[in-house]
Amino acid sequence: MRTAMHTENAPLTGLGAIVTGAGRGIGRSIALALAQGGAYVALASRTVEELEQVRDEIAALAGRAVCIPADVGDEAQVKQLVSRAVEQLGRLDIVVNNAGVGAFGPLELASTEQWDHVMAVNARGTFLMCREAIPHLRQHHPSYIVNISSVVGVKGYANQTLYSASKHAMMGMSKALARELQPDGIRVHAICPGAVDTGLGGDARPDLERAGMISPQDVADAVLFLVTRRGNAVIDQIDIRRASSTPWQ
Ligand SMILES: NC(=O)c1ccc[n+]([C@@H]2O[C@H](COP(=O)([O-])OP(=O)(O)OC[C@H]3O[C@@H](n4cnc5c(N)ncnc54)[C@H](OP(=O)(O)O)[C@@H]3O)[C@@H](O)[C@H]2O)c1
Repeated sequence: MRTAMHTENAPLTGLGAIVTGAGRGIGRSIALALAQGGAYVALASRTVEELEQVRDEIAALAGRAVCIPADVGDEAQVKQLVSRAVEQLGRLDIVVNNAGVGAFGPLELASTEQWDHVMAVNARGTFLMCREAIPHLRQHHPSYIVNISSVVGVKGYANQTLYSASKHAMMGMSKALARELQPDGIRVHAICPGAVDTGLGGDARPDLERAGMISPQDVADAVLFLVTRRGNAVIDQIDIRRASSTPWQ
């Protein structure tokens, strides 16, 4: 049961959260937003220095965070990440599966290694994180899994076939798991942004001006909205697009 103290400015006070890919880009913004909301946040990715920087930024805002380096595609490391997070945070209420990599270019030039890597991080990483976290999330109602998918998880873009396949896998997991975990009070959400102003966003859409892209903060705002909502209505998916893009059909 949710036993945390809730205040208007810090509605997540007393809750524990894991954010993967928290060292930079969208994950950094999500981690900062959750910590500013009062959550105690476990920061995960492979680059320790980046995690430590984010932890220090959070501490400067009087928030609480701990660094737990891990490769989300590695089963043993994910098991250790989740158990260390639960041990250090005291409880687990929110998991944000944000860690991700891209693979861009024509399919006929893609290597098998590229396929394996993008699927290992984006698809297997999400699977492993969910599997290990569910027993802990089940202890508290409501609890949340937020999967940072992409517009390419619902649409197809030329030269993004491998990335798109991995994000469609995330969407399939999000949809099925939302149903599977509903009786347990675990809410499963997918967020599908278009081009976001990060290193990965620049690689995916070199044709776009960075200034016109979605900001990482926009995605963090959507995560905060989902994990602070009250009431019974469930929002399965949030689509976020650039102001200058055409609406999705
Ligand atoms: N930028 C966009 O346009 C856009 C649009 C839609 C969706 N997304 C999604 O948003 C998420 C974040 O993307 P971003 O744009 O913020 O990318 P980014 O700036 O490149 O950050 C990616 C993060 O994921 C971590 N990561 C990569 N491989 C990992 C692994 N094997 N294990 C653990 N962490 C790993 C990276 O840290 P290390 O390399 O240190 O591990 C980094 O912290 C991704 O899932 C991406 O697909 C991005």
